[in-house]
Amino acid sequence: MITDIDQVLTTTRAVRRRLDLDRPVPREVVEECLALAQQAPMGSNLEHWRFVAVDDDVLKERVAALYRDIWHETVVAPLASGEEATTTRLAPSTRPDDATRHRQERVLGSVEHLVHRLERVPVLVVACSVKPLPSEIVGGTASGYYGSIFPAVWSFQLALRSRGLGSVLATALAHRAEEVRDVLGLPAAWRPITLVPVAYTRGLTFAPAARGPLHDVVSWNGSGEQR
Ligand SMILES: Cc1cc2nc3c(=O)[nH]c(=O)nc-3n(C[C@H](O)[C@H](O)[C@H](O)COP(=O)(O)O)c2cc1C
Repeated sequence: MITDIDQVLTTTRAVRRRLDLDRPVPREVVEECLALAQQAPMGSNLEHWRFVAVDDDVLKERVAALYRDIWHETVVAPLASGEEATTTRLAPSTRPDDATRHRQERVLGSVEHLVHRLERVPVLVVACSVKPLPSEIVGGTASGYYGSIFPAVWSFQLALRSRGLGSVLATALAHRAEEVRDVLGLPAAWRPITLVPVAYTRGLTFAPAARGPLHDVVSWNGSGEQR
């Protein structure tokens, strides 16, 4: 158990290649971490989140099949055809220097690795919202909608990490939210927001990520003043 909060906060990485696909994950561990996630903040003081934990092989394969389709439709095909928005967002060649190019190649390689093994991940957690979908994509209502899910999802990921498990926020699954709902037989009001694959990690050592200087992203009393 990693009990140092700063260590958990700095080493909870998106884990894909190092998920241990052969070690079973007890349901109790998942539920213990979800109980901690329930302590997260949420809008309107209403628990609009629902967490669907999937450990059934048939269901996992069906979710994985959707995820493979999404990968091809939203990444492989657009990059192959040079589609501009996806290329700018994802292609390593558009990154400004060797280090960030290399890092983006590694991330894409790792995403692809998981895409082709998702059905073997012991538990797939689908975080859903039962809050009515906001009519506008920006503004307070939209912030409240997504902001009522992701703090809990992140708490879940932190709790997993402290117990030697890894996970990754795989929001791409929401490209097929309706089909995910059908596959899992969920009520119409439940909207899948993100997938979180869960497994023990191979090894417990993860490094803090390379991030830019704090002063590039923090200012005081407006955008111009750095401490
Ligand atoms: C909003 C959001 C959506 C993400 N969606 C995906 C996804 O669909 N698939 C995936 O493999 N990783 C996804 N990630 C994980 C990011 O790729 C990862 O956090 C990023 O590369 C930084 O790596 P780190 O978390 O290890 O520092 C997502 C992360 C965030 C915050």
